[in-house]
Amino acid sequence: MKKDNTQFIELIKKQKNNFPLDQAFYTNQEIYDIDVKNFLFNQWIFIGHESRIPNKGDYFLFDIDKESIIIIRGDNKINCFFNVCRHRGSHICVNKEGKMNKLVCPYHSWVYDLDGKLIKARMMPKNFDKENWKLHKCNSINFEGLIFINLSDNPDDFNEFIKPTRNFIELHGLNNAKIAFRKTYPTNGNWKLTLDNFHECYHCQTAHPEYCEVHSKDYIQAYGAGNNTGPESLEFSKRLDEWNKKTNKIGYLTGEYSEKEFSNFYRSAERTPFSRNRLSETKNGKPASTLMGHFNEFDGGYTTIGTSPFNSLLMSNDFATAFTFIPRGPMRTDVEIMWLVDKDAVEGIDYNIENIIWMWDKTTIADKKIIEDNQKGVNSKKYIPGPLSEMEKGLEKFKKWYLKTLLKSLK
Ligand code: FES
Ligand code: FE
Repeated sequence: MKKDNTQFIELIKKQKNNFPLDQAFYTNQEIYDIDVKNFLFNQWIFIGHESRIPNKGDYFLFDIDKESIIIIRGDNKINCFFNVCRHRGSHICVNKEGKMNKLVCPYHSWVYDLDGKLIKARMMPKNFDKENWKLHKCNSINFEGLIFINLSDNPDDFNEFIKPTRNFIELHGLNNAKIAFRKTYPTNGNWKLTLDNFHECYHCQTAHPEYCEVHSKDYIQAYGAGNNTGPESLEFSKRLDEWNKKTNKIGYLTGEYSEKEFSNFYRSAERTPFSRNRLSETKNGKPASTLMGHFNEFDGGYTTIGTSPFNSLLMSNDFATAFTFIPRGPMRTDVEIMWLVDKDAVEGIDYNIENIIWMWDKTTIADKKIIEDNQKGVNSKKYIPGPLSEMEKGLEKFKKWYLKTLLKSLK
């Protein structure tokens, strides 16, 4: 094991600034396994919204690597358990989603309540104490309706983790939201290749006509993949200043956050203006649904949040697009999107799904294609990392954080 790590440490040290990673990082099974253990299982990740399980006993499964997590609504709260029976280990829930008033193991019918307490086990010896055989809880927090889990045995403090993005998320009232639509985009690409693509907007002009229709070229240059991901645009800075002043006056949050020093976390947040006259991330710029959260009027702003590399929230005043990136194998990633609207908004009257999903559905389908083509080329014996452009600073930043975190975890 130690010897293997030496080999990986050497490889990490060989990576060059302003170049993407070597092939092995995008293809190798052992590196993938290390990534799952050291990244995926160490982060707070939101994997759903509470509105997916509105009634007691409603549940869904979140399967990741060898783990399966049951997310189930109990009496007063949502509970998350490892889907592992305490008897001989069988999965308890075998359907992806459903309703269970009690958790009954299909193997020998041990029965657990919705708090994970074992309440029935037939023909056990007299000294068997059910109290000692509760389901294993998975760390979880329902924050603003977003269900965060952390698979680490020693998770980072949630409050510390959420602190810099908290105000940005709370502004949008996701705790009063419902899922309007959900879709998974299975992508044949390594998770880092998938995120590399998400962290740069160098490809936007060629791949994303819809995104370029909605967002101005100045925004795309400077902020297309988040703050500080491209060269500054004076035009956009002027627009941002002017919008900040106006928005502060009406009392809504402005500003941005990005990590200033290295930590376990990789978070960002910012509020930026759409082009003049545009109020929402829709084809015609008009609102797509009713106002959410703290908004009493449209402020023409767009909120972009990354709580970790595995989650992004992109929010207009009237709907939110929430991403979860789920590594599935060395060359496979599921991109899951939930579109959230106010819980009282009525489909067909206040919003229509096509209008809401238009841009990110089209854009994610296009991203899936370019990531898969990218992975095919990266697999070639002729792949050598090439120099990055000025518009790929976000990718470089993510890569540096990844390598540093990996190195720390291997030493
Ligand atoms: Fe669940 Fe036996 S494995 S009851
Ligand atoms: Fe893209």
